[in-house]
Amino acid sequence: MFGCNGSHPTPFFILRFFTMTDFAALKNACADHIAAAQDLPALDEVRVLLLGKKGKITELLKSLASLPPETRKETGAAINALKEDITAAIAEKQGRLNQAALQARMLAEKVDVTLPVRCESLGNLHPIPQTIEEIVAIFADMGLKVAEGPDVESDFYNFTALNMPPDHPARQMQDSFYLPPRREGEEPPVLRTQTSPVQIRTMLTQQPPIRIIAPGRTFRNDYDQTHTPMFHQVEGLVLDETTHMGHLKGVLIEFLRCCFAMPDLPFRFRLSYFPFTEPSAEIDIGCTRHNGTLTIGGGKNGAEDWLEVLGCGMVHAKVLENCKIDSSRIQGFAFGMGVERLAMLKYGIPDLRTFFESDLRWLRHYGFSALQTPTLAGGI
Ligand code: DAH
Repeated sequence: MFGCNGSHPTPFFILRFFTMTDFAALKNACADHIAAAQDLPALDEVRVLLLGKKGKITELLKSLASLPPETRKETGAAINALKEDITAAIAEKQGRLNQAALQARMLAEKVDVTLPVRCESLGNLHPIPQTIEEIVAIFADMGLKVAEGPDVESDFYNFTALNMPPDHPARQMQDSFYLPPRREGEEPPVLRTQTSPVQIRTMLTQQPPIRIIAPGRTFRNDYDQTHTPMFHQVEGLVLDETTHMGHLKGVLIEFLRCCFAMPDLPFRFRLSYFPFTEPSAEIDIGCTRHNGTLTIGGGKNGAEDWLEVLGCGMVHAKVLENCKIDSSRIQGFAFGMGVERLAMLKYGIPDLRTFFESDLRWLRHYGFSALQTPTLAGGI
């Protein structure tokens, strides 16, 4: 009827002599063109040919004006109906071609998920995030949720609410970094010296029962083989109406035995002092030393020596009251541990400072596969 390849331009209808039979023929010709389009560009060519500014249907509509008034209305309506049919047919075909193109792409881009990973192109996970993930996995298995707090704290959260009022000698136990006050006359913010302020933030915003662990960065003005100005801690807090010291012991012993993968790891609780817990304790784990090599765990005759690994205690009534929690009804325990210290003991890393020297050779040696997610079942 009419060509769209330009080489055999078929004369188009002259509207004056247009009959209903012509309409049917035109409709069929349009349908043939649409059906013949094999891909999206070809379909677009058909669209331009029929509906474009100089398209056949557009031209037909323009030439309506030359018709006698008695036939103009009827013919106009018929051409418009045809235009709508063509538009719908093109849209429908476009949808099908899109679908087919997507299908073809999906087939071409097939990924074989059974292929082994190419490990050589992956980076290594630093021992600190690895150890934090291990600690979190163990406590998560016991029902504790991760909580977070800011690195830059106010004096209230880092000290006062934790039962260290301004003149308290315990403040000198931690040599702090202060920042310039945000506004004149305000107290200087402090880089948190411990993750314990996350306890306060949680207690002020959540009602017991509370079961959290808070891993994060901490800062103190220290630098030697066992201290760096920035280090990591994991804090824990469990509060409800019935939690007692027996739970504290059970949870922390279980944690240490899982962490070092030693069901018979020797441990001892040693009485200690923290302003935010009463009573307070530190836990030591047993080790042996042979020719200068330290090994975690007991020897033939049990532990030969002890290493301190974490601090803990029953949350002080004053801390609960500072957070508007009724200490006659609610009780529980808290604990805190240094991540670097655990990592050093567990993975035999002798110098704390090397953690933060960004030496790639060190990272290749002590780092972990980024694909290895710690789980209890997989063996932490
Ligand atoms: N915040 C203590 C520190 O940095 C660690 C600690 C000890 C946290 C006992 C606690 C705790 O929650 O109960 O030395």
